[in-house]
Amino acid sequence: MRVAVLGAQGLLGRHLCDELNSHGHAVLSLDRAIVDLSTPDRESFYRLRDRLAAHDAHLVFNAAAYTDVDGAERESDKAFLVNALGAEMIARATDAVGAAVCHISTDFVFRGDQQRPYDEFDLPDPQGCYARSKRAGEDLVLRACRRAFVVRVGGLYGRGGRNFFSTMVARLQQGQSLRIDRCRQVSPTWVRPLAHQLVALCEHGEYGMYHATCQGQTSWFAFAETLCHVANELGRPLPLRFEGVDTSALPTAAPRPAMSVLDCRLLRLRGLLTMPPWEDALRGYLKELLAYNLL
Ligand SMILES: NC(=O)c1ccc[n+]([C@@H]2O[C@H](COP(=O)([O-])OP(=O)(O)OC[C@H]3O[C@@H](n4cnc5c(N)ncnc54)[C@H](OP(=O)(O)O)[C@@H]3O)[C@@H](O)[C@H]2O)c1
Repeated sequence: MRVAVLGAQGLLGRHLCDELNSHGHAVLSLDRAIVDLSTPDRESFYRLRDRLAAHDAHLVFNAAAYTDVDGAERESDKAFLVNALGAEMIARATDAVGAAVCHISTDFVFRGDQQRPYDEFDLPDPQGCYARSKRAGEDLVLRACRRAFVVRVGGLYGRGGRNFFSTMVARLQQGQSLRIDRCRQVSPTWVRPLAHQLVALCEHGEYGMYHATCQGQTSWFAFAETLCHVANELGRPLPLRFEGVDTSALPTAAPRPAMSVLDCRLLRLRGLLTMPPWEDALRGYLKELLAYNLL
């Protein structure tokens, strides 16, 4: 396939490029210097459309986003420009060249107050500016491109970039004591199997809304405990120097859903689900870090 990736320098975007390159797809990486999504004007639209046409792109991944969840409370216009209007511009340019778009969204589109995981048929109720801007992006993309995948993901970690995993390990290695949320329910998701899942989904060609995360659920506190146990088992001890606290003890500018677990119902029903349990993914990631001497 001939594929373009926006946000190719981000955590997920880099892994998508690796996955696509390793399968022999022709990849065009597009970063902020080429298309700045905070200015989704006619000029940006034509520039993007022409780049996609010149590459003869069949598929466009949008892994670019304004991802500062708390910052979006201060800079809501910027969040909506990038995550809503910028995403729409990508979808329109993709449609104009007859390609398909795979737009990445978030578990945060749900309120998070139900007891079971959210599937694709549950109604979104985003709280906070980042969540509302991402939800707006989903709608606009689905309207602007006839061949659109919108895939909600959550709890990402992997090599490069800052995320819960990298921040926690860095602080533990610096000897800091941590307080970690033991209440919010999440599905920590390694971006390597996620990139594999996204490419497999797009190759299959059933457009629409999907959820894609590692399987099972846990809290960030229990994830941190498991991480330390597995690291110790693999011969790289990390100190268990953290305590579990309630969400209310860790105030943030933007609200987080208490239930942030996604049911990947449509991938499962279509026989396309390849995401591993979160525990297996965590072990795989730790082994990868050890193989590159990064832990
Ligand atoms: N990380 C998570 O846990 C998580 C959870 C749920 C959903 N998601 C979604 O997953 C997707 C990928 O997230 P990620 O963690 O890979 O994000 P990330 O590491 O923060 O990368 C975001 C990418 O977007 C680019 N970008 C930001 N503003 C831009 C702009 N104005 N114009 C062009 N590019 C811009 C960044 O470019 P620069 O490199 O130039 O900054 C970067 O390459 C996003 O849609 C995000 O909303 C992530």
